[in-house]
Amino acid sequence: MEGPSNAFPMNGGEGPHSYTRNSSAQRIFIDRARKLIQEAVAEHLDIEAFSSSGAFLVADLGCSVGPNTFYAVSNVLQAVEQKCQSLGLDSQILEFQVFFNDHAGNDFNTLFRLLPPVRRYHAAGLPGSFYGRLFPKSCLHFVCSSFTLHWLSGVPKEVQDKSSPAWNKGRIFYPNANKEVIEAYAAQFAKDMEVFLCARAQEVVLGGLMALTFGTRRDGAPHSQFITNRSLDLLESCLVDMVKKGTISEERMDEFNLPMYYASPQEVKEAVERNGRFSVKKMVEIVDIHPSANPPWRAGLEGLLKEQMQFEDEMLDEFFDSVTRKHEESSILEFAPEASVTFVLLKRNAAN
Ligand SMILES: C[S@@+](CC[C@H](N)C(=O)[O-])C[C@H]1O[C@@H](n2cnc3c(N)ncnc32)[C@H](O)[C@@H]1O
Repeated sequence: MEGPSNAFPMNGGEGPHSYTRNSSAQRIFIDRARKLIQEAVAEHLDIEAFSSSGAFLVADLGCSVGPNTFYAVSNVLQAVEQKCQSLGLDSQILEFQVFFNDHAGNDFNTLFRLLPPVRRYHAAGLPGSFYGRLFPKSCLHFVCSSFTLHWLSGVPKEVQDKSSPAWNKGRIFYPNANKEVIEAYAAQFAKDMEVFLCARAQEVVLGGLMALTFGTRRDGAPHSQFITNRSLDLLESCLVDMVKKGTISEERMDEFNLPMYYASPQEVKEAVERNGRFSVKKMVEIVDIHPSANPPWRAGLEGLLKEQMQFEDEMLDEFFDSVTRKHEESSILEFAPEASVTFVLLKRNAAN
């Protein structure tokens, strides 16, 4: 079972700060991945081997509340149906079972309410952390997961340890911190990827596919230049302002760190190769989309701030208003106009 302190789902419901209403940026990339998934299924999925096994099982890990997850899943199903048709197989006899996974605290009620009323699949919600086993052995044919694996299983211990050279005093994140802090975050990402891949290796059938979409820092680029990290740097500076004003204590700021890490495509590739249970069939970096001038952080970080900083609603309003103001005043986009997103297609190896 997952520890509640390491689980911070996106804002639920359909209100102004909900993930449902603040996830169109991710949707752009999910749409762009449609063609990549079609190619992946056409080239790498041995549907004839699976069509006799009853239902075709798909999981979207870290699905949040929708609607993005429905588009992601529909991309997979369409691609499988097209593959069947191209082989002269009757896709209508193929049954699809889709599992929507996220932390137990995710707003599954909204997810279920928003499910497309007409759909080609049986839907089920599956609560729990993907940094652990979620499914029985060898049952999944296709796994997708978008914009999820930058969420670590937790903050690296060293950055919260006053006696460690990696103690991250006065900061909440690594991009502008000392090298020990950056190394601790990078090591946590590598460890988490290993746990994720080992769990999925048990669950995905031999020859099964996994399509992962990551927000990534470009290979070789300093962490501090990645656009998302620049934006989080502004967010950090708003917390520093609150400490200066006495709204929050210095100790509370020192204890708070974001459990997120934006890897480079190379780090992702190395993690997969080290693990050895999947092979990289395709890796595409999408870099030509202009990011939002003011990312809707509130939909993603409100739960974390409420729980770990004990922010009340009024403080949240004050904090996120100041984040918006800082983004409006800053020129971060002038220096880093591109968002980098990496699509990785993995195939379960026969070997181990
Ligand atoms: C930015 S949202 C992405 C949602 C959706 N996949 C999309 O592309 O719009 C990240 C989601 O990953 C979920 N998540 C993060 N860590 C997770 C974990 N260890 N296990 C399951 N879900 C997790 C969060 O709760 C959140 O709903």
